[in-house]
Amino acid sequence: MTSVLFSPLQIGPISVPNRIAIAPMCQYSANDGCATDWHLQLLMNYGMSGAATVILEATGVTREGRISLGCLGLYSDACEYALGRVLRAARAVALPGTKFGIQLAHAGRKASTHVNWMGSGPLGPHESAWRTVAPSAIPYGENWHVPAEMSDAEIQATIDAFANAARRAARLGFDIIEIHAAHGYLIHEYHSPVSNKRTDRWGGDAEKRLRFPLAVAEAVRAASPNHIALGARITGTDYLDGGLTPDDAVRFASELKQRDYDFVCVSSGNIVLGGRPASGVAFNVPNAARVRREAGIVTRTAGLIAEPHQAEDIVATRGVDQIAIARAQIDDPRWGWHAAEKLGVKLELPPQMRRVTTGQWPGLKLVRP
Ligand SMILES: Cc1cc2nc3c(=O)[nH]c(=O)nc-3n(C[C@H](O)[C@H](O)[C@H](O)COP(=O)(O)O)c2cc1C
Repeated sequence: MTSVLFSPLQIGPISVPNRIAIAPMCQYSANDGCATDWHLQLLMNYGMSGAATVILEATGVTREGRISLGCLGLYSDACEYALGRVLRAARAVALPGTKFGIQLAHAGRKASTHVNWMGSGPLGPHESAWRTVAPSAIPYGENWHVPAEMSDAEIQATIDAFANAARRAARLGFDIIEIHAAHGYLIHEYHSPVSNKRTDRWGGDAEKRLRFPLAVAEAVRAASPNHIALGARITGTDYLDGGLTPDDAVRFASELKQRDYDFVCVSSGNIVLGGRPASGVAFNVPNAARVRREAGIVTRTAGLIAEPHQAEDIVATRGVDQIAIARAQIDDPRWGWHAAEKLGVKLELPPQMRRVTTGQWPGLKLVRP
């Protein structure tokens, strides 16, 4: 069988041998932003998973821009050094053609929270909570921190921090840089009319609300060499009356393309606490397909994509270039291998592991029923 999922994809200056990506997933396991042994094992495993594109978790461009005290950062030499160790090790074992990306982020009004397994709520005054910032002084939800409205100087410093982190990522040798402009974090907070009530040049109509996201995008573009694929995770819909719609996503993606961006990943929701209704299988695909059709940019999507034939169908017939998996990857760290088997594709495995391919060892069944 010819598989589109296992066919190559050109993403700006890079080419990947298949269309499977591992979506960014916060691990809350860093030490003052520095990657630890947890990240070492994780990225090494990601590299061997069969997914040709690996995007590392949301990585704070400033210390205060981290979601939690355990979140990864790229704001100091120590962070850069620690991440270099992890990336080098992952590359050493990765399947041929695997490309590694980093997601650069600022958590805005969703910063200063507990790590995920402690409930993700805001830190209390005796839990090392810190001052959070946002376009407007509106909290994410009831009992959340009230963020400070950012001054012009803070806006410029944050744009510079994104550029500095991009320089560090380039120095480390990442193949892909993805700006996190979704999920209710700072860039999304500027884009969405739900969280941006400013009346100066950084808020107002759609053009003004895009000014900060595009200023960040331009700064990151200027800081990144041309051999790196640049993209952004954007919002397909806020799921709210008066929130962002697929039209806004198309506009944002088109503006990014005009600024030499190579791809977008279309996600959705989370601009307010509980701002995401229960959703069905592959729920972001229709908005992603529309963005790809109308903005003409390489488009990835994620969201309840877990079954290989479904992933194949999405890239073969539903108008999206690349799929990303998050929870399915946690569930099955060799998801890519098993997808290849299910789709009848021969994946080149590391020689050390070839003996355990299904069928060569009677009684051994790698593919789950
Ligand atoms: C543990 C965990 C951590 C996540 N962290 C991030 C993140 O750092 N950045 C991001 O853009 N999305 C993050 N997400 C969202 C995922 O990237 C993905 O979009 C979402 O889980 C839907 O995909 P899935 O149905 O395959 O899990 C996270 C999801 C999980 C489960």
